[in-house]
Amino acid sequence: MHENTKEITELVVNAKKQAYEGKGIVPEPAFTKNIKWPVKCIVGPGLEGAIACESKVGYVNGSQGWLIYRGYDIFDLCAYSTYEEVCYLLLFGSLPSEKQLNSFKKDLIKLRSIPGTIGLLRKFPIKESNAMATLRIGTNFLRRESTYLDLPDYKPDTTSAISADEDSIPMETIPKGERHAIYEFDKSKNTKKPDNVDKNLYSPSGYDSCCRLISSVASVAAAGERLRTSQVVIKPDPELSHAANLIYMITGKRPTAVEERIMDIILILHADHGINASTFASLVVASTLSDIYFAVGSGVAALNGPLHGGANERVLSMLLEIGSPENVKDWFKKARSEKRKIMGFGHRVYKAYDPRARVLGPLAEFLVNASGSSENKKIFEIAKALENEVVINLGKDKKIFPNVDFYSGIVYSCLGFSQEMFTPLFAVSRVAGWVARIAEYLEHNRIFRPRTIYTGPLNKKYIPINKRIKKVK
Ligand code: ACO
Repeated sequence: MHENTKEITELVVNAKKQAYEGKGIVPEPAFTKNIKWPVKCIVGPGLEGAIACESKVGYVNGSQGWLIYRGYDIFDLCAYSTYEEVCYLLLFGSLPSEKQLNSFKKDLIKLRSIPGTIGLLRKFPIKESNAMATLRIGTNFLRRESTYLDLPDYKPDTTSAISADEDSIPMETIPKGERHAIYEFDKSKNTKKPDNVDKNLYSPSGYDSCCRLISSVASVAAAGERLRTSQVVIKPDPELSHAANLIYMITGKRPTAVEERIMDIILILHADHGINASTFASLVVASTLSDIYFAVGSGVAALNGPLHGGANERVLSMLLEIGSPENVKDWFKKARSEKRKIMGFGHRVYKAYDPRARVLGPLAEFLVNASGSSENKKIFEIAKALENEVVINLGKDKKIFPNVDFYSGIVYSCLGFSQEMFTPLFAVSRVAGWVARIAEYLEHNRIFRPRTIYTGPLNKKYIPINKRIKKVK
């Protein structure tokens, strides 16, 4: 690790100390013990508390603010690992040897180049589109460039998928309690490459496609931003790490060692987080035996919302709207009286301080001080004052604390990214968690198909249109 980045590592180590000080962190039995299907759980609106599947990829302990990927604490991964290593860990379940990591990195670097997708993006009305809309369509273009699924003569092989049709599932009426469905997804059959296609095209659910997405969604985001702002699209630099190349392809500047290290930490922090809304959306799509590119595209779509990843852009707008640290108390009072949600606060799972915000806060402070910009300093001071106000008023009773989106925008701004790029940058990183969890789920696939409670009328008599009496308003 570069000499100048030691200070960054210390910030992360201190954040870990603060998080765990005096606390013995213990796993919650309800979410970590082995289960036997069907499982009993108490489900609230918005599927709160529902158990959707088992996973070895990662665990979020919301009551204690503990996040782990494949058994490793997020603070340790931020302090000592790299995004590439974390991607390998998420995908394969263990840390790589040096040889394995080098080979994995080579694969990722090879897949950064996306000439076909950039060609299609140039034809897309990027300037009239939101950056997330571009990223979403870009995942479709990647599918076209990388797989045989969009070839005119490609016909999906449905023989192995036939019993995944929801109507053929007996579980709905007779719960059998099987750990996994009997019609397990036969990858070899369903993803068999047609004989006559280009051998460079990938199987739409194989290792290549996972790597393609981890690597190239970053290239799509960068190309989209360059085209949106009428700048030349920058070719990836194979000498740079994923984090450094991402900054380079977006801003046109090769980052310093410190900037690269901070970007790497941001990527690690956002890489995975249980089955949050976007991960669940991508799993639902994958569970229909649609392909991994469509699944990731739906993850992008779900992440876009202001209640999820889209909050990071809104945080900056909110801080600008507040205008000064002195305005925080009045602004907060008014926001509460209007029942406004404070962007960057609260979480479905965390009822303690989000460990990711514990790292991002000090990183934001570090970058703001290093930038010497009075504007950055003011924004950070507003953020600190707002955090204080929210935690005093809503922390104890409602368990509302800053989440990952609260400080990330300040960090992104200081690294030279535009506000439009905040949510796409989140997506670029989260692709790792999406593909790792999709690959894991498909090993024992069962289509997601919950029920609703019907609350409408029953037994209504159909009246032909000419006999319906119009209600006079
Ligand atoms: N500001 C003010 N009050 C809040 C906030 C907030 N940010 N978040 C939750 N609350 C309050 C609600 O008003 C509600 O209060 P009530 O019981 O008096 O009605 C209570 O806390 C529970 O809130 P819900 O919205 O029911 O919680 P839910 O688990 O459904 O939502 C969510 C979680 C969407 C993250 C919510 O906290 C929120 O909207 N936060 C703001 C947006 C945000 O920052 N999103 C990013 C989340 S992190 C991520 O997705 C990457």
